[in-house]
Amino acid sequence: MKFSSKVQRCDYSPMRKFHPFAVAARAAGKKIYHLNIGQPDIATPPAAFAAVRDFALPVLEYAPSPGIPELIAAVAKYYRNNVGVALQEEDILITAGGSEALSITCNCILDDGDEIIIPEPFYPNYNTFVQAAGASIRPVDTTPHDGYRYADREKIEALINDHTRAIMLTNPGNPTGTVLAPAEMRMIADIAKEHGLFLVVDEVYREFVYGGEELSSMASFDDVAENTILIDSASKRFSACGARIGVLISRNKAFMQHALKFCQARLAVATLDQTAVVSMYDLPADYFLASREEYKRRRDVAYRKFKEIPGVVCECPGGAFYMMAKLPVDDTERFQEWLLTDFEDKGETMMFAPGAGFYATPGKGRDEIRIAYVLKEADLARAMDLLALGIQAYNARR
Ligand SMILES: Cc1ncc(COP(=O)(O)O)c(C=O)c1O
Repeated sequence: MKFSSKVQRCDYSPMRKFHPFAVAARAAGKKIYHLNIGQPDIATPPAAFAAVRDFALPVLEYAPSPGIPELIAAVAKYYRNNVGVALQEEDILITAGGSEALSITCNCILDDGDEIIIPEPFYPNYNTFVQAAGASIRPVDTTPHDGYRYADREKIEALINDHTRAIMLTNPGNPTGTVLAPAEMRMIADIAKEHGLFLVVDEVYREFVYGGEELSSMASFDDVAENTILIDSASKRFSACGARIGVLISRNKAFMQHALKFCQARLAVATLDQTAVVSMYDLPADYFLASREEYKRRRDVAYRKFKEIPGVVCECPGGAFYMMAKLPVDDTERFQEWLLTDFEDKGETMMFAPGAGFYATPGKGRDEIRIAYVLKEADLARAMDLLALGIQAYNARR
């Protein structure tokens, strides 16, 4: 028996290797502040739980493969009211998280030997979705010194060749928090249009922008409607990661018809989860304002703390709830392990996500980290102080 070359090219989550060290540190009585995972701590709106309690049908049937009509209508209304985009029912497929939307997309547009252009550092699971489709990632190079910005026309166009099928972006970005300006979005849309490429835009962090700007979406450029595929999700928007509800959106009819084949093959997305998410789309618009303000305060705390650490390179990111920084240490994987095994301050330590796992280029990101500012301000400040103390003690060792 033989495993596929596709699965053998895939890797485990880069965060997994620190789990045993974290378990041992906890067993030894250390408290760990987790800035390593993007699990929001903000309460899921109670309406979601009420909707599940009130579910009255006698049989928990398969939902329709494209999603329940109430949720599709709720998503269309959200796009109309929040980003000014008019979507038809057939432009929307409900998926098991944005993750399934990504997997379906890669399987619809990529073949063995194809390439997809993605700015690095990027969300590490993109590796698995792209590799499983037989394709490979062509990274657009960025640096911490200019805030990981990648909207450089020449740089992107230089990566396009006969194998290129798509450009994929996360906006606002994970792991960098970088937000594209409208002119940058327009320029990238122009590249996709001129070169006949799909433009896959992962907008699962759309609400989390802190510069006072209007919400934006790549879907608002009508002239690239055929190129554009949007990945959306309830996970971060409503602090409901466990609901496992995502959305695949495109006005490219042929793409949506192909995507529907995968939706039909997996039959349906969980009915109760879809019901819960419908109720959250009915929340008043100020729901987003409150969570945005909360994350903005946290971003400001984390950024201020980073800037106080000598030798750190970090630009203030405009969105999502992540921040990437270059640290004055040789290897952030070794440093993370040491923080768990050898370091403590008053019985406490912290975790981040080492940078290398967010890069496709071997050797890159070794002195970088990503933090997720998903802790309350006081805990976040303490975690950042532990990071500063840890850097000092780690570098004093030798
Ligand atoms: C950039 C990005 N895209 C997609 C996802 C998938 O999220 P979900 O499957 O929960 O919708 C995540 C989750 O962290 C993410 O960070």
